Order: sequence, then structure tokens, then C-alpha cells
Amino acid sequence: MKEYSLKNYSIYLGNEVFDSLLEHLIESSYTQVFVLVDEQTEKYCLPILQKTLFDTKIIRIKSGEINKSLETLQTIWNELFDNQADKKSVVINLGGGVINDIGGFAASTFKRGIDYVNIPTTLLAMVDSSIGGKLGIDYQNIKNAIGLIKDPVAVYINPIFLDTLDARELRNGFAEMIKHGLIADEEYWDKILKINAIDASTLLPLIAGSIKVKVQVVKKDPHEEDLRKILNFGHTIGHAIEAYSLIHDKKPLKHGEAIAIGMICESFLAKEYQGLGGKELRIISDFILQHYPKYSLKNILSPELIKFMRQDKKNNSDQINFVSLKRIGKAITNRTFSDQQISLALNYYDAL
Ligand SMILES: NC(=O)c1ccc[n+]([C@@H]2O[C@H](COP(=O)([O-])OP(=O)(O)OC[C@H]3O[C@@H](n4cnc5c(N)ncnc54)[C@H](O)[C@@H]3O)[C@@H](O)[C@H]2O)c1
Ligand SMILES: [Zn+2]
Repeated sequence: MKEYSLKNYSIYLGNEVFDSLLEHLIESSYTQVFVLVDEQTEKYCLPILQKTLFDTKIIRIKSGEINKSLETLQTIWNELFDNQADKKSVVINLGGGVINDIGGFAASTFKRGIDYVNIPTTLLAMVDSSIGGKLGIDYQNIKNAIGLIKDPVAVYINPIFLDTLDARELRNGFAEMIKHGLIADEEYWDKILKINAIDASTLLPLIAGSIKVKVQVVKKDPHEEDLRKILNFGHTIGHAIEAYSLIHDKKPLKHGEAIAIGMICESFLAKEYQGLGGKELRIISDFILQHYPKYSLKNILSPELIKFMRQDKKNNSDQINFVSLKRIGKAITNRTFSDQQISLALNYYDAL
């Protein structure tokens, strides 16, 4: 089992992590243990957790980004109240990023905050959302518009949960792994480039590399004063595309699929204006297109997407904030680009 320490908590990675979870629960003498699940994690993940944990109360919510909402948050608060949760209760988030974000938010605000533990069950949650304490819900069609940063008391990553994820879910999480290589670790990026087929067995050995990047960044800048912003690479344009798709598409893009497009567009901006090499831009674009289906931006006018970008909470006043790349493995924060430059980046992707 690997352990990564942040200031206030540790992340455990391995097939035996639930033994450590059990120890933690016993040591903490919680009055009640709540496990938050959605339909899939109740079916595929809860039985595995229940081999180690019993005597827990289950809180069920509906899966999907559309349910990362105020209504779902109320459902969780209500369940906690109805079951007489007190300050010494704990919430275990058993699920992907949606469960991490909303379960952590519910716990951190319930009676001014109770402990929560993350057990990420999607690749995306394992390498990204379960670490770093960013919590929230979507509001008025703006992603993560309401929320806070509050650390979990521990994160237990058991790769066994990858086995029931389909190819699309693996691709979803893989985008954040690509991002980690691009922003902070050229050697890791080279390993990622060697991936031909995205499946659990090829990704498993790489998970630790991503966790390392995320932990290093969050440790240095837990409250996102500067360095942590590099984790938003691809997300300024990606979030806008994700938000647009969520409203307009019958089968909306997943977070990682939108971020993958965002990374191509933002790498274009990096090449045009920040010094990233043309060859690197081609390698990044080809690699992402090899693994992610093309999404047509033709019918989306750039002003519509740019409007979403302006609403993004990453921005100050009316400037749109970007993370950019100086080269592979070296990201820079607080870049701004004009609407026209952003349109060029969207056109670059569309013409690929
Ligand atoms: N807090 C952060 O720092 C941070 C970082 C990145 C992303 N996020 C957020 O994470 C969310 C996306 O997370 P996600 O991609 O994990 O989505 P998700 O939580 O919606 O999970 C995706 C789907 O997989 C199912 N699922 C989960 N585990 C499974 C398993 N082991 N087997 C089978 N099915 C399983 C879920 O029920 C769901 O249908 C977005 O809301 C995004 O904003 C947060
Ligand atoms: Zn992301």
C-alpha cells in the first residue's frame, strides 16, 4: 500500500486500503457512519466495501452531473437530519467526482461541518477529484458555482473499482492524467504517450504518477492562491464546452471528454502566444484525437462559449483567466486571451 501525506490527511493507494479505513473508523469512535452512493456505486462498489465495513447507514442519490444540484444536497442534509447524525458522525463518499464533490459539501456544511472520507470509484475521482478538498455543486448552469475547500479526513483509493468502469469512464479520467503530464511532469507525459489502448490494466501502473502530481501541487498551494491554478489547464475552454453540452446535447459530453477538447484549444493558445513548440502542439492534438471522439463545434458560435467562460468562477472582473504551457511539463498561470484569440483556438480544434 502506498501512502501520500498532505498537511491534514493522507491518501492511501492499494488493494488493502480498507483495512486502514477500518482502523481509522475504530480510532475515531464515530457515533454513526454514513455511506453516500448512487445507483451504480451501490450495485458495484458497496458490496466490496461491505466486506470490511458493516453497521453503516446508506444515503442514496441519483447519479450524473445533472444531480450535482441544490436539490440533491438537500436530500443528503435531510437524510443526515432524519437519521439523527451528530457532530461525531462521518460521511464516506463512495463514488465518482459527483459523489466526492456533493457529499463532501453536504458533510462540511452539516452542523458547521462533520468529517468526511473519500473512496473514489471512478478513474477521474482516483486521480483528481478525491484529492484536494474542492467541494461544490453546479448552480444556474455554472459548474461548481457554489462550494468550498475543505479537506477530507482521509482518501482510500482501491483500484479494484476500475474493473466495473466502461471504456468511456476510463477515457473520462484519463483526460486528467494527460493534464497532469502536460502541466507538471514531462517524464510522466512520455509514459502516457505510450498508451495505445485505454483499459484498466494499462492505466493502473500510471495512477500513482497522477496522484503524485496532484498531491505535490495541492500541498504547496491548498487554497489555490497561484500554483494550484495549473490544475485548471484545459478547463477554461473545457468547462464552457461541458456546460454547453450539458444543456444542449441528448448525450452530453463527460467532464474529461470536454477537458480533452479544452486541452487541445488551450495548447493551441500556448503555441501561438506562450512559446509551446509547434511539434508539441501536433503531438498533443494527435494523441488526444486518437483517444477521444471528435466533437463538432461548428454549430456553436464562439460568443456563446465565451459567455460561459466569462461566468466561470476562475475569472476576475471580465477577463477570462487561462493556464498556459511554456513547454510540456511547465505550466504558467493567470494568462488572458482576447475573444478573437479564443475563437481562433476553437477554430483550430474544429478544423482538425
Ligand atoms: N473536486 C475536484 O477537485 C474535482 C476535480 C475534477 C473533477 N471534479 C468533478 O467530478 C465530476 C466528474 O466525476 P466523475 O467523472 O467521476 O463522474 P460521476 O461521479 O458522475 O461518475 C461517473 C459515472 O460512473 C458511475 N460509477 C462510479 N463508480 C463506478 C464503478 N466503480 N463502476 C461502475 N460505475 C461507476 C457513476 O454512477 C456515474 O454514473 C464533475 O462534477 C467534476 O466537476 C471535481
Ligand atoms: Zn477536471
